[in-house]
Amino acid sequence: MRPDQSPVIRLSEYCPPDFLIDHVALDFRLHPSGTVVDAVLTLRRNPKGRAGAALSLDGEDLTLLSVALEGKELAASAYEVSPEKLVIPDVPDAFTLALKTEINPAANTRLMGLYRSNGVYCTQCEADAFRRITYFLDRPDVMSTYSVRIEAEKAEAPLLLSNGNPVGAGDIPGTTRHFALWEDPHRKPAYLFALVAGDLDRVTDTHTTPSGRRVTLNVYVEKGKGNRAAYAMDSLIRSMKWDEEKFGREYDLDLFNIVAVSDFNMGAMENKGLNIFNDRYILATPETATDQDYHNIEAIVAHEYFHNWTGNRITCRDWFQLCLKEGLTVFRDQEFSSDERSRPVERIANVQTLRAAQFVEDAGPLAHPVRPHQYKEINNFYTATVYNKGSEVIQMLRLLIGPAKFREGMDLYFERHDGEACTVEQFIRCFADISGRDFTPFMRWYDQAGTPLVTVRDAFDAATGRYTLHFQQATKPTPGQPEKHPQVIPVSLGLLDPQGQSLVSDDLFVLDGAEGQKTWDNMPARPIPSLFRGFSAPVRVEINRQPGDLLVLAGHDPDPFNRWQALQDVAIDLLKRSIAGIRKGEAPLADPTLAAALERLIRHSDADPAFAALAIALPRETEMAREIGQDVDPDAIGTAVTALWRFIGQSVGSLARERYDALSKPVPFSPDAASAGKRALALRLLNYLIAANPAEGAGLALAQFERANNMSDRANALWALVTADRPERDQAFAAAEARFRDDPLLLDLWFTLNASIPGKAGRERVEALLRHPKFTLGNPNRVRALVGAFANGNPRGFHAADGAGYRLVADVIGEVDGKNPQLAARLATAFRTWKALEAGRRTEAEMALRGLVAPDRSRDLSDILERSLA
Ligand code: BES
Ligand code: ZN
Repeated sequence: MRPDQSPVIRLSEYCPPDFLIDHVALDFRLHPSGTVVDAVLTLRRNPKGRAGAALSLDGEDLTLLSVALEGKELAASAYEVSPEKLVIPDVPDAFTLALKTEINPAANTRLMGLYRSNGVYCTQCEADAFRRITYFLDRPDVMSTYSVRIEAEKAEAPLLLSNGNPVGAGDIPGTTRHFALWEDPHRKPAYLFALVAGDLDRVTDTHTTPSGRRVTLNVYVEKGKGNRAAYAMDSLIRSMKWDEEKFGREYDLDLFNIVAVSDFNMGAMENKGLNIFNDRYILATPETATDQDYHNIEAIVAHEYFHNWTGNRITCRDWFQLCLKEGLTVFRDQEFSSDERSRPVERIANVQTLRAAQFVEDAGPLAHPVRPHQYKEINNFYTATVYNKGSEVIQMLRLLIGPAKFREGMDLYFERHDGEACTVEQFIRCFADISGRDFTPFMRWYDQAGTPLVTVRDAFDAATGRYTLHFQQATKPTPGQPEKHPQVIPVSLGLLDPQGQSLVSDDLFVLDGAEGQKTWDNMPARPIPSLFRGFSAPVRVEINRQPGDLLVLAGHDPDPFNRWQALQDVAIDLLKRSIAGIRKGEAPLADPTLAAALERLIRHSDADPAFAALAIALPRETEMAREIGQDVDPDAIGTAVTALWRFIGQSVGSLARERYDALSKPVPFSPDAASAGKRALALRLLNYLIAANPAEGAGLALAQFERANNMSDRANALWALVTADRPERDQAFAAAEARFRDDPLLLDLWFTLNASIPGKAGRERVEALLRHPKFTLGNPNRVRALVGAFANGNPRGFHAADGAGYRLVADVIGEVDGKNPQLAARLATAFRTWKALEAGRRTEAEMALRGLVAPDRSRDLSDILERSLA
């Protein structure tokens, strides 16, 4: 393929900026297609920069109208300008630079910089998009104070918001326009700049911090949706209290605004004092939001709020350090959710996400370290590796030094680096200083890609009672890193006796070389090891288990994560054998002991329904594909998994029905975790009922859909019907379309349900729905709901042997790339597993990817294609 010509940016080539910008004064005269931006930058040479360097500012898609230095307009000969750069060779040591640029928000379909969403002006500047507003030193280690003036038509934009505090407002006499003035006293990098202007509904509240600051909190949403902002506000207030209690962090302005818009590339953005959200992570009422929606809202509101300290006050020196804010902030939001909900359930869900997204990334062509060493397009590095593995690295750090030292280390970090743009080394140094531990070997977690495989062999000497666990680790090569070194792997472990009594608990073994071992003496009988409790390290594990051990662990391990894991392992092992047999023409396998274990779980599910819902769920098809890892045949996987659901459904049928009926008694809706857990359990039981008897199960699901008094029960009924090729499905889906059609977020759910119907039927629906009157490539949520859901959640459809699924998705990617490259590049990552497929599909997938390669592709998409095909 023609190599993409974009330059490679390397961590090893980091240089401090040649200039600093102390203050930025911005004046926006908003107009949908021609917004004029006046920027006055107060610059000085950076003592750490290159002496005598020219001033070179970044730009993108800008029209420069004028430049003035120290108030004097520059002649065209005094600078060089292109849409991407403004270079002024001859500048003094300290000066002001006034820039006038024009931009076109209405034509901004990339949704980066200043754009319009449903008539609302809004911005997204992370990572490199402030340069789409004015020429600037657009890098996170240039931190400035900002004052902003916004002017707009009063009727169109009665509300004018920016970062920091409002300091003035008024009408512009003789016009229909008005203005507002904002000042942000905190120095910040340009990627945290934000502006919103429009006509929005508002929900308001206050929070008083421990030091007595009374903070006004606003959540702004599109007109008519004000009744859907309460849960987001509640989540915000709980997040603020939690960060005060758990990390000693208070908010630092008198105003905190959240704005929800319907066109947004990501989930949400932590702009200082003005978080901007994808409205699907704000809007919720019992009638419109599912339990998953409530959970996401809580977690993402918290995440963006927590960035105020981990990201904003202490930011990243460069984008290679992205995990410094993202991995750490994911860690913080996961802790928050664990405290607000059920810790074991959160842990299991987070590990499921890690394995589904990060392990898969780490095993394929897009693998990269938590701190990448190079990039062409930074937007392609907001990944599961940076975020989720980045969070796991913090978990391990805390495990290694203990929670008390961890907290001291965090306190030191906040104190030592407040107001700075930092590196991962500076962060880790705080924990080294507090604990006296040498973290040099640990740093490899940041710099080495790939998921270590830990192989465990145990040995028991009955004569002496000596029990030995022998550990070995190995990591496969990843792109650019053929040689791997050992990681520091904390193994939380315990030992159980054969009856399930705990012999050893709360033990921590640290494997820090290629091999290591641990022994215990005087063991009465061969113990059963419970390893990596709570998933103490992001590794894969292989162990020589004795028959029956897993079922003892599933029933008795005091660690709930490992109780869950043990049953999953039983099912994974069975399914692997079943899949191999199916490919040889044999019948799918079933296992009555697994069915019996699941039946026991269902029988005792009252104690913790949310946990039971996770524990009785069989591994997903995509999970089996990952476990198999090579020569993957998604159809064989589908056959094996479907057959096992049916077999277990038939085994547990009457109990499942009894429990399902008990859980289906109408109760008033509450979004709390316990209530959500009951609904999740009901869904799993319904899955078994449908698998065992499609006609009867589908009837139950349709009835649930019709009687539901909340969106969670309604959506769960529809989800259960996805796998039922039954008239009840068509009936419920048709009713859902009629019910959801005027609400974009609900309609997204309906698109996703259709795209999730397994196999060819789902693909045909996606093809048809691309022509649905309400389908549009202009709205990222809609594209993800239909095409993203198909590519990532319908393995038998996407990976159809004839390549039709690949071609469908590739065609959409090609079309989207012309409008919104970031979205196109994200969609293209669905192909990241292509090398693990069996030969026929591998060829089809590669052809689809190669077919996308073209000279006029965006940098975003070219980068993904190039790395995927390398
Ligand atoms: N800073 C990011 C948003 C972002 C991502 C901006 C990529 C530009 C490019 C924000 O803090 C974030 O991480 N959002 C996540 C949700 C979060 C809960 C993990 C997102 O948008 O998916
Ligand atoms: Zn974030």
